[in-house]
Amino acid sequence: MERCLRLLLLLLGSGLGSAFYLPGLAPVSFCEEQKVKDNCKSQIELLVNRLDSAESVLPYEYDAFDFCKDENERHPSENLGQVLFGERIASSPYKFTFNKNETCQKVCQKTYDPKSGVSALDFIKKGIQLNYQHHWIIDNMPVTWCYYFEDGQKYCSPGFPVGCTITADGRVKDACVINSEFNKKDTIYLFNHVDIIITYHSGKDENWDGARLVAARLEPKSYKHTGDKAIKCEGPPMEIPKDLTSKFQITYSYSVIFQENDTIKWASRWDYILESMQHTNIQWFSIMNSLVIVLFLSGMVAMIMLRTLHKDIARYNQIDSSEDAQEEFGWKLVHGDIFRPPMKGMLLSVFLGQGTQIFIMTFITLFLACLGFLSPANRGALMTCAVVLWVLLGTPAGYVSARMYKTFGGERWKSNVLLTALLCPGIIFADFFVMNVILLAKGSSAAIPFGTLVAILAMWFGISVPLTFLGAYFGFKERAIEHPVRTNQIPRQIPTQSFFTKPFPGIIMGGILPFGCIFIQLFFILNSIWITTGGGGPS
Ligand SMILES: *[C@@H]1O[C@H](CO)[C@@H](O)[C@H](O)[C@H]1NC(C)=O
Ligand SMILES: *[C@@H]1O[C@H](CO)[C@@H](O)[C@H](O)[C@H]1NC(C)=O
Repeated sequence: MERCLRLLLLLLGSGLGSAFYLPGLAPVSFCEEQKVKDNCKSQIELLVNRLDSAESVLPYEYDAFDFCKDENERHPSENLGQVLFGERIASSPYKFTFNKNETCQKVCQKTYDPKSGVSALDFIKKGIQLNYQHHWIIDNMPVTWCYYFEDGQKYCSPGFPVGCTITADGRVKDACVINSEFNKKDTIYLFNHVDIIITYHSGKDENWDGARLVAARLEPKSYKHTGDKAIKCEGPPMEIPKDLTSKFQITYSYSVIFQENDTIKWASRWDYILESMQHTNIQWFSIMNSLVIVLFLSGMVAMIMLRTLHKDIARYNQIDSSEDAQEEFGWKLVHGDIFRPPMKGMLLSVFLGQGTQIFIMTFITLFLACLGFLSPANRGALMTCAVVLWVLLGTPAGYVSARMYKTFGGERWKSNVLLTALLCPGIIFADFFVMNVILLAKGSSAAIPFGTLVAILAMWFGISVPLTFLGAYFGFKERAIEHPVRTNQIPRQIPTQSFFTKPFPGIIMGGILPFGCIFIQLFFILNSIWITTGGGGPS
Protein backbone atom coordinates (compact mmCIF):
# COMPACT_ATOMS: atom_id res chain seq x y z
CA MET A 1 0.00 0.00 0.00
CA GLU A 2 2.66 2.46 1.09
CA ARG A 3 4.97 1.42 -1.71
CA CYS A 4 2.15 1.82 -4.20
CA LEU A 5 1.50 5.35 -2.98
CA ARG A 6 5.15 6.28 -3.21
CA LEU A 7 5.31 4.96 -6.76
CA LEU A 8 2.25 6.98 -7.74
CA LEU A 9 3.78 10.14 -6.31
CA LEU A 10 7.02 9.47 -8.10
CA LEU A 11 5.23 8.90 -11.41
CA LEU A 12 3.18 12.06 -11.03
CA GLY A 13 6.23 14.05 -10.02
CA SER A 14 8.37 12.92 -12.93
CA GLY A 15 5.51 13.36 -15.40
CA LEU A 16 4.92 16.92 -14.37
CA GLY A 17 8.57 17.69 -13.84
CA SER A 18 9.58 16.86 -17.39
CA ALA A 19 6.96 19.26 -18.74
CA PHE A 20 8.12 22.13 -16.62
CA TYR A 21 6.49 24.89 -18.62
CA LEU A 22 2.89 23.84 -18.26
CA PRO A 23 0.66 24.96 -21.11
CA GLY A 24 -0.35 28.56 -20.62
CA LEU A 25 2.51 29.19 -18.25
CA ALA A 26 5.27 29.70 -20.77
CA PRO A 27 6.18 33.37 -21.18
CA VAL A 28 5.02 35.17 -24.32
CA SER A 29 7.15 37.87 -25.89
CA PHE A 30 5.70 40.99 -27.44
CA CYS A 31 7.24 43.57 -29.73
CA GLU A 32 6.11 46.68 -31.55
CA GLU A 33 4.09 46.35 -34.72
CA GLN A 34 6.99 47.18 -37.06
CA LYS A 35 9.35 44.72 -35.42
CA VAL A 36 7.20 41.58 -35.37
CA LYS A 37 9.21 38.39 -35.71
CA ASP A 38 8.50 34.68 -35.35
CA ASN A 39 9.13 34.65 -31.65
CA CYS A 40 7.17 37.72 -30.71
CA LYS A 41 3.82 39.20 -31.51
CA SER A 42 2.33 42.66 -31.30
CA GLN A 43 -1.36 41.88 -30.79
CA ILE A 44 -2.45 41.81 -27.19
CA GLU A 45 -5.71 40.05 -26.59
CA LEU A 46 -8.01 40.73 -23.73
CA LEU A 47 -10.09 37.76 -22.63
CA VAL A 48 -13.21 38.02 -20.54
CA ASN A 49 -14.18 35.49 -17.91
CA ARG A 50 -17.53 34.97 -16.22
CA LEU A 51 -18.89 37.63 -13.89
CA ASP A 52 -19.54 36.85 -10.27
CA SER A 53 -20.74 38.56 -7.15
CA ALA A 54 -20.28 38.22 -3.43
CA GLU A 55 -23.98 38.96 -3.01
CA SER A 56 -25.22 36.21 -5.31
CA VAL A 57 -24.21 32.59 -5.77
CA LEU A 58 -24.86 32.56 -9.50
CA PRO A 59 -21.99 33.43 -11.83
CA TYR A 60 -22.94 34.57 -15.32
CA GLU A 61 -21.12 34.37 -18.60
CA TYR A 62 -19.93 37.69 -20.08
CA ASP A 63 -22.30 37.10 -23.00
CA ALA A 64 -25.29 36.82 -20.68
CA PHE A 65 -25.03 40.60 -20.28
CA ASP A 66 -25.46 42.94 -23.18
CA PHE A 67 -21.86 44.20 -23.24
CA CYS A 68 -19.68 44.68 -26.31
CA LYS A 69 -19.05 41.36 -28.03
CA ASP A 70 -16.28 40.20 -30.27
CA GLU A 71 -17.49 39.76 -33.84
CA ASN A 72 -15.83 36.40 -34.32
CA GLU A 73 -15.93 35.26 -30.74
CA ARG A 74 -13.64 32.43 -29.72
CA HIS A 75 -13.67 30.36 -26.59
CA PRO A 76 -10.16 29.23 -25.68
CA SER A 77 -10.36 25.58 -24.70
CA GLU A 78 -10.86 25.00 -21.01
CA ASN A 79 -9.93 22.17 -18.72
CA LEU A 80 -12.29 20.15 -16.56
CA GLY A 81 -11.57 22.19 -13.45
CA GLN A 82 -12.49 25.44 -15.12
CA VAL A 83 -15.74 24.05 -16.45
CA LEU A 84 -16.64 22.66 -13.03
CA PHE A 85 -15.93 26.03 -11.42
CA GLY A 86 -18.22 27.76 -13.92
CA GLU A 87 -15.44 29.66 -15.65
CA ARG A 88 -16.29 30.61 -19.20
CA ILE A 89 -13.56 32.47 -21.05
CA ALA A 90 -14.28 34.28 -24.30
CA SER A 91 -12.42 36.66 -26.56
CA SER A 92 -13.42 40.31 -26.37
CA PRO A 93 -13.53 43.29 -28.73
CA TYR A 94 -10.86 45.05 -26.66
CA LYS A 95 -7.73 44.55 -28.75
CA PHE A 96 -4.45 46.37 -28.23
CA THR A 97 -1.18 46.68 -30.08
CA PHE A 98 1.96 46.42 -28.03
CA ASN A 99 3.42 49.77 -26.95
CA LYS A 100 0.80 51.81 -28.79
CA ASN A 101 -0.86 54.21 -26.39
CA GLU A 102 -4.46 54.94 -27.23
CA THR A 103 -6.85 57.42 -25.66
CA CYS A 104 -10.59 57.25 -25.63
CA GLN A 105 -11.27 54.58 -28.22
CA LYS A 106 -14.84 53.60 -28.89
CA VAL A 107 -15.54 49.89 -28.56
CA CYS A 108 -19.20 49.67 -29.41
CA GLN A 109 -22.51 51.36 -28.94
CA LYS A 110 -25.64 49.72 -27.63
CA THR A 111 -29.08 51.15 -28.20
CA TYR A 112 -32.12 50.31 -26.13
CA ASP A 113 -35.62 51.36 -27.01
CA PRO A 114 -38.66 51.13 -24.78
CA LYS A 115 -40.24 48.41 -26.91
CA SER A 116 -37.53 45.78 -27.18
CA GLY A 117 -34.54 46.74 -25.07
CA VAL A 118 -36.00 46.75 -21.59
CA SER A 119 -35.07 43.23 -20.54
CA ALA A 120 -31.42 43.49 -21.62
CA LEU A 121 -31.02 46.76 -19.76
CA ASP A 122 -32.81 45.41 -16.71
CA PHE A 123 -30.38 42.52 -16.56
CA ILE A 124 -27.44 44.94 -16.49
CA LYS A 125 -29.19 46.97 -13.79
CA LYS A 126 -29.76 43.89 -11.71
CA GLY A 127 -26.11 42.97 -12.17
CA ILE A 128 -25.04 46.39 -10.91
CA GLN A 129 -27.37 46.25 -7.92
CA LEU A 130 -25.95 42.86 -6.95
CA ASN A 131 -22.41 44.22 -7.43
CA TYR A 132 -21.35 41.79 -10.16
CA GLN A 133 -17.65 41.90 -10.96
CA HIS A 134 -15.92 41.69 -14.33
CA HIS A 135 -12.91 39.38 -14.55
CA TRP A 136 -10.63 40.23 -17.43
CA ILE A 137 -7.46 38.48 -18.48
CA ILE A 138 -4.46 39.80 -20.39
CA ASP A 139 -1.58 37.44 -21.19
CA ASN A 140 -2.93 34.86 -18.72
CA MET A 141 -2.86 37.42 -15.90
CA PRO A 142 -5.87 38.92 -14.21
CA VAL A 143 -6.43 42.57 -14.98
CA THR A 144 -6.51 44.14 -11.55
CA TRP A 145 -8.15 47.17 -10.12
CA CYS A 146 -5.96 48.75 -7.46
CA TYR A 147 -7.27 51.28 -4.99
CA TYR A 148 -6.35 52.67 -1.62
CA PHE A 149 -8.23 52.10 1.58
CA GLU A 150 -8.84 54.93 3.99
CA ASP A 151 -5.82 53.89 6.06
CA GLY A 152 -3.57 54.22 3.02
CA GLN A 153 -3.37 50.47 2.40
CA LYS A 154 -3.29 49.59 -1.28
CA TYR A 155 -5.45 46.74 -2.42
CA CYS A 156 -5.47 45.12 -5.85
CA SER A 157 -8.60 43.20 -6.72
CA PRO A 158 -8.58 40.77 -9.67
CA GLY A 159 -11.92 42.11 -10.82
CA PHE A 160 -13.89 45.32 -11.13
CA PRO A 161 -17.57 46.09 -10.80
CA VAL A 162 -20.03 46.53 -13.64
CA GLY A 163 -21.35 49.69 -12.02
CA CYS A 164 -22.42 51.12 -8.73
CA THR A 165 -25.51 52.50 -7.05
CA ILE A 166 -26.60 55.24 -4.71
CA THR A 167 -29.63 54.39 -2.65
CA ALA A 168 -32.79 56.47 -2.24
CA ASP A 169 -31.64 57.73 1.14
CA GLY A 170 -28.33 58.92 -0.31
CA ARG A 171 -26.14 56.06 0.87
CA VAL A 172 -23.17 55.61 -1.49
CA LYS A 173 -22.80 51.89 -2.16
CA ASP A 174 -19.84 49.82 -3.34
CA ALA A 175 -17.56 51.39 -5.91
CA CYS A 176 -19.44 54.68 -6.10
CA VAL A 177 -17.20 56.00 -3.32
CA ILE A 178 -14.26 56.35 -5.74
CA ASN A 179 -15.55 59.56 -7.22
CA SER A 180 -17.59 62.41 -5.80
CA GLU A 181 -19.23 62.85 -9.19
CA PHE A 182 -21.48 59.96 -8.28
CA ASN A 183 -23.81 62.00 -6.13
CA LYS A 184 -27.41 61.70 -7.29
CA LYS A 185 -29.72 59.90 -4.93
CA ASP A 186 -31.49 56.76 -6.10
CA THR A 187 -29.34 56.35 -9.21
CA ILE A 188 -27.55 53.51 -10.95
CA TYR A 189 -24.24 54.34 -12.59
CA LEU A 190 -22.55 52.17 -15.22
CA PHE A 191 -18.78 51.91 -15.71
CA ASN A 192 -18.67 52.15 -19.48
CA HIS A 193 -15.04 53.23 -19.79
CA VAL A 194 -11.80 51.65 -18.60
CA ASP A 195 -8.34 53.17 -18.33
CA ILE A 196 -5.94 50.28 -18.80
CA ILE A 197 -2.28 50.44 -17.83
CA ILE A 198 -0.11 47.61 -19.11
CA THR A 199 3.37 47.36 -17.61
CA TYR A 200 6.07 45.49 -19.47
CA HIS A 201 9.64 44.40 -18.98
CA SER A 202 11.57 45.55 -22.03
CA GLY A 203 13.93 42.57 -22.00
CA LYS A 204 17.09 44.73 -21.97
CA ASP A 205 20.08 42.81 -20.56
CA GLU A 206 18.03 39.61 -20.52
CA ASN A 207 18.49 36.46 -22.55
CA TRP A 208 15.17 36.73 -24.31
CA ASP A 209 13.95 38.81 -27.23
CA GLY A 210 11.12 41.25 -27.12
CA ALA A 211 9.20 42.48 -24.12
CA ARG A 212 7.15 40.59 -21.57
CA LEU A 213 4.07 41.84 -19.84
CA VAL A 214 4.40 42.01 -16.08
CA ALA A 215 1.22 43.74 -14.93
CA ALA A 216 -2.15 44.82 -16.25
CA ARG A 217 -4.17 47.28 -14.22
CA LEU A 218 -7.28 49.22 -14.95
CA GLU A 219 -9.51 51.84 -13.52
CA PRO A 220 -13.23 51.73 -14.21
CA LYS A 221 -14.72 55.08 -15.24
CA SER A 222 -18.12 56.33 -16.14
CA TYR A 223 -18.64 58.93 -18.90
CA LYS A 224 -21.85 60.03 -20.53
CA HIS A 225 -20.55 60.02 -24.09
CA THR A 226 -22.62 62.25 -26.31
CA GLY A 227 -22.68 62.25 -30.08
CA ASP A 228 -22.22 59.27 -32.33
CA LYS A 229 -18.88 59.90 -33.95
CA ALA A 230 -16.08 61.54 -32.03
CA ILE A 231 -16.22 60.80 -28.33
CA LYS A 232 -14.40 62.63 -25.60
CA CYS A 233 -13.81 60.82 -22.39
CA GLU A 234 -14.89 63.55 -20.04
CA GLY A 235 -18.00 65.05 -18.55
CA PRO A 236 -20.67 63.73 -16.23
CA PRO A 237 -21.01 60.04 -15.40
CA MET A 238 -23.26 57.58 -17.20
CA GLU A 239 -26.54 57.01 -15.43
CA ILE A 240 -28.97 54.28 -16.33
CA PRO A 241 -32.54 55.59 -16.29
CA LYS A 242 -35.01 53.93 -13.91
CA ASP A 243 -37.63 53.52 -16.61
CA LEU A 244 -36.96 53.47 -20.28
CA THR A 245 -39.17 56.16 -21.82
CA SER A 246 -37.23 57.03 -24.92
CA LYS A 247 -34.37 55.62 -26.94
CA PHE A 248 -31.28 55.21 -24.77
CA GLN A 249 -27.69 54.68 -25.83
CA ILE A 250 -24.64 53.33 -24.04
CA THR A 251 -21.22 53.83 -25.58
CA TYR A 252 -18.34 51.72 -24.30
CA SER A 253 -14.79 53.00 -24.58
CA TYR A 254 -11.26 52.46 -23.37
CA SER A 255 -7.83 54.07 -23.09
CA VAL A 256 -4.61 52.11 -22.86
CA ILE A 257 -1.16 53.17 -21.73
CA PHE A 258 2.02 51.10 -21.90
CA GLN A 259 4.61 51.55 -19.20
CA GLU A 260 8.11 50.19 -19.12
CA ASN A 261 9.43 48.85 -15.84
CA ASP A 262 12.53 46.71 -15.89
CA THR A 263 12.68 46.13 -12.15
CA ILE A 264 9.75 43.68 -12.10
CA LYS A 265 10.73 40.15 -13.07
CA TRP A 266 8.40 38.15 -15.28
CA ALA A 267 8.52 35.21 -12.88
CA SER A 268 7.28 37.37 -10.01
CA ARG A 269 4.61 39.24 -11.89
CA TRP A 270 1.83 37.90 -9.68
CA ASP A 271 3.47 39.13 -6.52
CA TYR A 272 1.94 42.59 -6.45
CA ILE A 273 -1.53 41.06 -6.25
CA LEU A 274 -0.59 38.76 -3.39
CA GLU A 275 1.30 41.51 -1.56
CA SER A 276 -1.73 43.74 -1.50
CA MET A 277 -3.70 41.15 0.47
CA GLN A 278 -3.20 41.78 4.16
CA HIS A 279 -5.56 39.12 5.43
CA THR A 280 -3.13 36.23 5.43
CA ASN A 281 -1.49 37.06 8.78
CA ILE A 282 -4.70 37.07 10.78
CA GLN A 283 -5.71 33.77 9.27
CA TRP A 284 -2.48 32.02 10.17
CA PHE A 285 -2.64 33.34 13.67
CA SER A 286 -6.15 32.04 14.26
CA ILE A 287 -5.35 28.66 12.73
CA MET A 288 -2.28 28.28 14.91
CA ASN A 289 -4.33 29.36 17.88
CA SER A 290 -7.00 26.72 17.45
CA LEU A 291 -4.43 24.09 16.59
CA VAL A 292 -2.61 24.73 19.87
CA ILE A 293 -5.88 24.56 21.81
CA VAL A 294 -6.82 21.24 20.19
CA LEU A 295 -3.38 19.77 20.84
CA PHE A 296 -3.42 20.96 24.44
CA LEU A 297 -6.84 19.52 25.17
CA SER A 298 -6.07 16.22 23.41
CA GLY A 299 -2.92 16.00 25.48
CA MET A 300 -4.92 16.51 28.65
CA VAL A 301 -7.40 13.79 27.75
CA ALA A 302 -4.52 11.44 26.93
CA MET A 303 -2.92 12.16 30.31
CA ILE A 304 -6.13 11.41 32.20
CA MET A 305 -6.51 8.15 30.28
CA LEU A 306 -2.93 7.15 31.00
CA ARG A 307 -3.36 7.82 34.72
CA THR A 308 -6.51 5.73 34.86
CA LEU A 309 -4.73 2.92 33.07
CA HIS A 310 -1.78 3.08 35.45
CA LYS A 311 -4.11 2.97 38.43
CA ASP A 312 -5.92 -0.03 36.98
CA ILE A 313 -2.69 -1.89 36.33
CA ALA A 314 -1.51 -1.20 39.86
CA ARG A 315 -4.74 -2.64 41.22
CA TYR A 316 -4.51 -5.73 39.02
CA ASN A 317 -1.02 -6.39 40.34
CA GLN A 318 -2.19 -6.16 43.93
CA ILE A 319 -5.21 -8.39 43.47
CA ASP A 320 -3.54 -11.12 41.39
CA SER A 321 -1.62 -12.37 44.38
CA SER A 322 -4.48 -12.41 46.88
CA GLU A 323 -7.81 -13.52 45.42
CA ASP A 324 -8.34 -14.91 41.94
CA ALA A 325 -12.07 -15.16 41.65
CA GLN A 326 -12.57 -11.45 41.91
CA GLU A 327 -14.89 -9.92 39.38
CA GLU A 328 -13.21 -8.02 36.56
CA PHE A 329 -13.20 -4.27 36.63
CA GLY A 330 -11.65 -1.26 34.82
CA TRP A 331 -9.97 -1.86 31.47
CA LYS A 332 -10.14 -5.64 31.78
CA LEU A 333 -13.88 -5.33 31.84
CA VAL A 334 -14.11 -4.32 28.21
CA HIS A 335 -11.35 -6.40 26.62
CA GLY A 336 -13.75 -9.12 25.55
CA ASP A 337 -16.02 -6.69 23.76
CA ILE A 338 -13.76 -4.04 22.37
CA PHE A 339 -13.24 -5.69 18.99
CA ARG A 340 -16.83 -6.84 18.53
CA PRO A 341 -17.91 -6.00 14.96
CA PRO A 342 -20.06 -2.86 14.93
CA MET A 343 -23.77 -3.06 14.28
CA LYS A 344 -23.56 -1.18 10.96
CA GLY A 345 -20.27 -2.64 9.80
CA MET A 346 -21.22 -2.35 6.16
CA LEU A 347 -21.76 1.38 6.32
CA LEU A 348 -18.66 1.97 8.43
CA SER A 349 -16.40 0.07 6.06
CA VAL A 350 -17.86 1.85 3.03
CA PHE A 351 -17.26 5.25 4.63
CA LEU A 352 -13.75 4.22 5.67
CA GLY A 353 -12.97 3.30 2.07
CA GLN A 354 -14.35 6.54 0.71
CA GLY A 355 -12.54 8.51 3.38
CA THR A 356 -9.24 6.91 2.41
CA GLN A 357 -9.84 7.89 -1.18
CA ILE A 358 -10.58 11.51 -0.29
CA PHE A 359 -7.74 11.72 2.22
CA ILE A 360 -5.11 10.50 -0.25
CA MET A 361 -6.54 12.77 -2.94
CA THR A 362 -6.33 15.81 -0.66
CA PHE A 363 -2.85 14.88 0.46
CA ILE A 364 -1.45 14.53 -3.07
CA THR A 365 -3.25 17.66 -4.29
CA LEU A 366 -1.87 19.74 -1.44
CA PHE A 367 1.57 18.26 -1.98
CA LEU A 368 1.53 19.21 -5.66
CA ALA A 369 0.14 22.62 -4.83
CA CYS A 370 2.98 23.20 -2.38
CA LEU A 371 5.48 22.32 -5.09
CA GLY A 372 3.88 25.05 -7.19
CA PHE A 373 2.41 22.88 -9.94
CA LEU A 374 -1.08 24.18 -9.34
CA SER A 375 -0.33 27.89 -9.37
CA PRO A 376 -3.22 30.25 -10.03
CA ALA A 377 -1.67 31.11 -13.40
CA ASN A 378 -2.57 27.58 -14.42
CA ARG A 379 -6.29 28.13 -14.34
CA GLY A 380 -8.49 25.29 -13.15
CA ALA A 381 -5.50 23.03 -12.46
CA LEU A 382 -6.37 22.54 -8.79
CA MET A 383 -9.86 21.27 -9.49
CA THR A 384 -8.77 19.15 -12.45
CA CYS A 385 -6.03 17.59 -10.35
CA ALA A 386 -8.44 16.83 -7.51
CA VAL A 387 -11.04 15.22 -9.77
CA VAL A 388 -8.55 13.14 -11.75
CA LEU A 389 -6.82 11.96 -8.57
CA TRP A 390 -10.12 11.00 -7.00
CA VAL A 391 -11.02 8.94 -10.04
CA LEU A 392 -7.63 7.20 -10.08
CA LEU A 393 -7.73 6.44 -6.35
CA GLY A 394 -10.64 4.01 -6.53
CA THR A 395 -8.30 1.12 -5.72
CA PRO A 396 -7.35 2.16 -2.16
CA ALA A 397 -11.01 2.84 -1.44
CA GLY A 398 -12.05 -0.64 -2.57
CA TYR A 399 -9.15 -2.26 -0.72
CA VAL A 400 -9.75 -0.55 2.62
CA SER A 401 -13.49 -1.04 2.46
CA ALA A 402 -13.25 -4.73 1.55
CA ARG A 403 -10.57 -5.52 4.13
CA MET A 404 -12.46 -3.76 6.91
CA TYR A 405 -15.67 -5.48 5.93
CA LYS A 406 -13.92 -8.82 5.97
CA THR A 407 -12.52 -8.03 9.41
CA PHE A 408 -16.02 -7.25 10.63
CA GLY A 409 -17.01 -10.71 9.42
CA GLY A 410 -19.36 -9.44 6.74
CA GLU A 411 -20.78 -11.87 4.22
CA ARG A 412 -22.42 -9.61 1.64
CA TRP A 413 -19.27 -8.67 -0.21
CA LYS A 414 -21.05 -7.82 -3.46
CA SER A 415 -23.15 -5.14 -1.77
CA ASN A 416 -20.01 -3.87 -0.05
CA VAL A 417 -18.13 -3.35 -3.32
CA LEU A 418 -21.09 -1.75 -5.04
CA LEU A 419 -21.80 0.57 -2.14
CA THR A 420 -18.15 1.63 -1.96
CA ALA A 421 -18.13 2.48 -5.64
CA LEU A 422 -21.53 4.12 -5.79
CA LEU A 423 -22.84 5.40 -2.44
CA CYS A 424 -20.95 8.64 -1.75
CA PRO A 425 -20.27 9.61 -5.38
CA GLY A 426 -23.92 8.81 -6.10
CA ILE A 427 -25.17 11.14 -3.37
CA ILE A 428 -22.84 13.90 -4.52
CA PHE A 429 -23.70 13.38 -8.16
CA ALA A 430 -27.43 13.48 -7.47
CA ASP A 431 -26.93 16.71 -5.54
CA PHE A 432 -24.82 18.10 -8.31
CA PHE A 433 -27.40 17.13 -10.91
CA VAL A 434 -30.27 18.84 -9.10
CA MET A 435 -28.17 21.98 -8.60
CA ASN A 436 -27.24 21.91 -12.26
CA VAL A 437 -30.87 21.83 -13.31
CA ILE A 438 -31.57 24.86 -11.12
CA LEU A 439 -28.51 26.74 -12.44
CA LEU A 440 -29.48 25.87 -16.00
CA ALA A 441 -32.94 27.30 -15.41
CA LYS A 442 -31.33 30.51 -14.13
CA GLY A 443 -28.99 30.70 -17.14
CA SER A 444 -25.94 30.81 -14.92
CA SER A 445 -22.49 30.00 -16.26
CA ALA A 446 -21.98 27.67 -13.30
CA ALA A 447 -24.24 25.13 -14.99
CA ILE A 448 -22.21 22.26 -16.40
CA PRO A 449 -22.74 21.60 -20.12
CA PHE A 450 -24.23 18.23 -21.04
CA GLY A 451 -20.99 17.00 -22.60
CA THR A 452 -19.04 17.55 -19.38
CA LEU A 453 -21.74 15.76 -17.40
CA VAL A 454 -21.39 12.74 -19.69
CA ALA A 455 -17.60 12.94 -19.39
CA ILE A 456 -17.84 12.91 -15.60
CA LEU A 457 -20.18 9.92 -15.68
CA ALA A 458 -17.80 8.16 -18.06
CA MET A 459 -14.86 8.81 -15.73
CA TRP A 460 -16.84 7.54 -12.77
CA PHE A 461 -18.18 4.35 -14.34
CA GLY A 462 -15.34 3.77 -16.80
CA ILE A 463 -12.34 4.31 -14.52
CA SER A 464 -13.26 4.79 -10.89
CA VAL A 465 -15.72 1.89 -10.52
CA PRO A 466 -13.46 -0.75 -12.17
CA LEU A 467 -10.53 0.47 -10.06
CA THR A 468 -12.64 0.14 -6.92
CA PHE A 469 -13.55 -3.43 -7.94
CA LEU A 470 -9.86 -4.18 -8.41
CA GLY A 471 -9.05 -2.80 -4.97
CA ALA A 472 -11.90 -4.76 -3.40
CA TYR A 473 -10.63 -7.97 -5.04
CA PHE A 474 -7.25 -7.55 -3.37
CA GLY A 475 -8.91 -6.50 -0.12
CA PHE A 476 -10.99 -9.65 0.10
CA LYS A 477 -8.07 -11.86 -0.87
CA GLU A 478 -6.00 -10.56 2.01
CA ARG A 479 -6.37 -12.02 5.50
CA ALA A 480 -8.69 -10.19 7.86
CA ILE A 481 -6.94 -7.89 10.32
CA GLU A 482 -6.09 -9.82 13.50
CA HIS A 483 -7.10 -8.49 16.87
CA PRO A 484 -4.75 -8.58 19.85
CA VAL A 485 -7.46 -9.96 22.17
CA ARG A 486 -10.24 -12.42 21.57
CA THR A 487 -13.84 -11.28 21.58
CA ASN A 488 -16.19 -13.02 23.99
CA GLN A 489 -18.93 -15.09 22.41
CA ILE A 490 -21.64 -13.48 24.48
CA PRO A 491 -21.72 -9.72 24.67
CA ARG A 492 -21.63 -8.27 28.15
CA GLN A 493 -24.75 -6.70 29.37
CA ILE A 494 -24.40 -2.94 29.44
CA PRO A 495 -25.35 -1.51 32.83
CA THR A 496 -27.70 1.45 32.98
CA GLN A 497 -25.93 4.57 31.85
CA SER A 498 -25.89 8.09 33.19
CA PHE A 499 -27.28 10.66 30.79
CA PHE A 500 -23.98 11.85 29.32
CA THR A 501 -22.94 8.40 28.09
CA LYS A 502 -26.10 8.04 26.00
CA PRO A 503 -25.39 8.38 22.26
CA PHE A 504 -26.87 11.81 21.64
CA PRO A 505 -25.32 13.79 24.53
CA GLY A 506 -22.11 11.88 23.90
CA ILE A 507 -22.01 12.99 20.28
CA ILE A 508 -22.64 16.59 21.25
CA MET A 509 -20.07 16.66 24.04
CA GLY A 510 -17.41 14.94 21.96
CA GLY A 511 -18.10 17.01 18.88
CA ILE A 512 -18.46 20.50 20.23
CA LEU A 513 -14.77 21.19 20.64
CA PRO A 514 -13.55 20.04 17.20
CA PHE A 515 -16.58 21.70 15.67
CA GLY A 516 -15.77 24.99 17.37
CA CYS A 517 -12.18 24.94 16.21
CA ILE A 518 -12.98 23.95 12.65
CA PHE A 519 -15.74 26.52 12.54
CA ILE A 520 -13.39 29.32 13.54
CA GLN A 521 -10.82 28.24 11.00
CA LEU A 522 -13.35 27.86 8.23
CA PHE A 523 -14.78 31.24 9.12
CA PHE A 524 -11.42 32.93 8.63
CA ILE A 525 -10.52 30.98 5.52
CA LEU A 526 -13.86 31.59 3.82
CA ASN A 527 -13.79 35.20 4.89
CA SER A 528 -10.44 35.76 3.26
CA ILE A 529 -11.57 33.93 0.12
CA TRP A 530 -14.67 36.09 -0.20
CA ILE A 531 -12.83 39.30 0.51
CA THR A 532 -10.12 38.63 -2.04
CA THR A 533 -12.20 37.23 -4.89
CA GLY A 534 -15.63 38.67 -4.42
CA GLY A 535 -16.03 41.62 -2.11
CA GLY A 536 -14.79 44.22 -4.48
CA GLY A 537 -14.96 47.90 -4.10
CA PRO A 538 -13.37 50.15 -1.54
CA SER A 539 -15.47 50.55 1.53
C1 LIG B 1 2.70 55.83 -23.44
O1 LIG B 1 2.37 56.62 -22.31
C2 LIG B 1 3.28 56.50 -21.21
C3 LIG B 1 2.72 57.29 -20.05
O2 LIG B 1 2.23 58.51 -20.43
C4 LIG B 1 4.66 57.00 -21.65
O3 LIG B 1 5.56 56.85 -20.58
C5 LIG B 1 5.11 56.14 -22.84
O4 LIG B 1 6.34 56.62 -23.32
C6 LIG B 1 4.07 56.19 -23.95
N1 LIG B 1 4.46 55.25 -24.99
C7 LIG B 1 4.53 55.57 -26.27
C8 LIG B 1 4.98 54.50 -27.21
O5 LIG B 1 4.27 56.69 -26.67
C1 LIG C 1 8.72 49.64 -11.25
O1 LIG C 1 7.99 48.87 -10.30
C2 LIG C 1 8.52 48.96 -8.99
C3 LIG C 1 7.75 47.97 -8.14
O2 LIG C 1 6.39 48.06 -8.35
C4 LIG C 1 8.42 50.38 -8.50
O3 LIG C 1 8.94 50.49 -7.18
C5 LIG C 1 9.19 51.28 -9.43
O4 LIG C 1 9.02 52.64 -9.06
C6 LIG C 1 8.74 51.10 -10.87
N1 LIG C 1 9.63 51.80 -11.77
C7 LIG C 1 9.20 52.63 -12.73
C8 LIG C 1 10.24 53.24 -13.58
O5 LIG C 1 8.03 52.89 -12.89
